[in-house]
Amino acid sequence: MTATIDSLKRPLKDLRVSITDRCNLRCQYCLPEELLGPGFAFSPREEVLTYEEINRIVDAFLALGIRKVRITGGEPLLRRDVSDLVRLLRKTGPELDLAITTNGLKLDEHLQSLREAGLDRLNVSLDAIDPQIGRKIAGRPLDTEKIWAAVIRGQAMGFRVKLNTVIKKGVNDCQVLPLVERCRKDGIELRFIEYMDVGTSNGWDLQEVVTAKEIQERIGLHYALSPQALDSGGETARRYRYDDGQGVVGFINSISQPFCQGCNRARISATGDLHTCLFANSGHPLKHWLREEKLDTKALADRIGKVWGGRSDRYSEVRTSRASASSSRTEMWQIGG
Ligand code: GTP
Ligand code: 5AD
Ligand code: SF4
Ligand code: SF4
Repeated sequence: MTATIDSLKRPLKDLRVSITDRCNLRCQYCLPEELLGPGFAFSPREEVLTYEEINRIVDAFLALGIRKVRITGGEPLLRRDVSDLVRLLRKTGPELDLAITTNGLKLDEHLQSLREAGLDRLNVSLDAIDPQIGRKIAGRPLDTEKIWAAVIRGQAMGFRVKLNTVIKKGVNDCQVLPLVERCRKDGIELRFIEYMDVGTSNGWDLQEVVTAKEIQERIGLHYALSPQALDSGGETARRYRYDDGQGVVGFINSISQPFCQGCNRARISATGDLHTCLFANSGHPLKHWLREEKLDTKALADRIGKVWGGRSDRYSEVRTSRASASSSRTEMWQIGG
């Protein structure tokens, strides 16, 4: 199949689909309670794509050459019967790499059905081992050991598992080593994500970013690291191997080392907008094309292909330290990272 290429010659390979904008946490760096207020209303159900609609969209993307679909949120496991969606997608794309990004709070109860439905991979977000620090960054009580137990059980069931950690300066820096040690002990790939200026409600400030370099230096005081060769392209993380053979650790350096050059990801928001960049101001009205224009799969694929063909986004490469101050941008919990 010929790849669908954007204006900077980047192929369309991955699709991230947010299936709900609701979340049971209030992470400081994403959906902070104090900025959004307690009465905050998420999208009404009728505005959110149905599983059948998502499946049709994925079918159109398959015709354009994607090989990976990641289910995101908000917190995707808050939506009812997520395994029904996984089953549909598995049937539509038997060869697809099917993954989910979750905060792990409800993971344990869903592991079995997700596995049976054909999910391949789990990326679990956890920013602390210490539950008090976890609560501070996540804005809600966090039973970190329960989440950890689900991670380990998922791994034992055959899922490929990664742990995602965002470090915010002055909040959870002290958890770098505890997370490193826990992941090394249990053979889980840990990835540190630089705190990003996504959306406009997290009050992002460059001063609060802990860069990959700083974290590497901190880990290096205890464990020597060697860089691994970069993958074939489109990977978010730069990976390092522990010299003592105890696994790998990754760094997603959107701030200090942008990776737009290989960016092959399209994103669908919970309410059915197609975004060609995590930092886009607005999306393309995919839901309208489906519901009002009633495009069939082929016409939908043509329309999406045209959007991708005109794509020139490379936000992380051109951002300035004042980037998030003025513009209005889609929030992380609406687009799923
Ligand atoms: P893998 O398929 O396991 O490599 O997952 P992933 O890293 O693509 O997805 P995940 O949902 O685990 O995201 C990890 C972090 O990378 C999140 O903070 C995402 O927001 C961020 N991320 C993923 N894709 C992009 C991207 O295209 N641009 C930027 N700036 N950040 C991204
Ligand atoms: N910067 C970096 N990562 C973020 N995430 C959410 N908000 C931000 C942000 N502002 C992460 C979550 C999750 C992934 C989908 O994105 O921790 O692991
Ligand atoms: Fe935290 Fe993810 Fe929920 Fe945002 S969507 S508040 S990062 S758990
Ligand atoms: Fe892709 Fe936009 Fe992220 Fe760059 S900033 S890697 S273009 S999503």
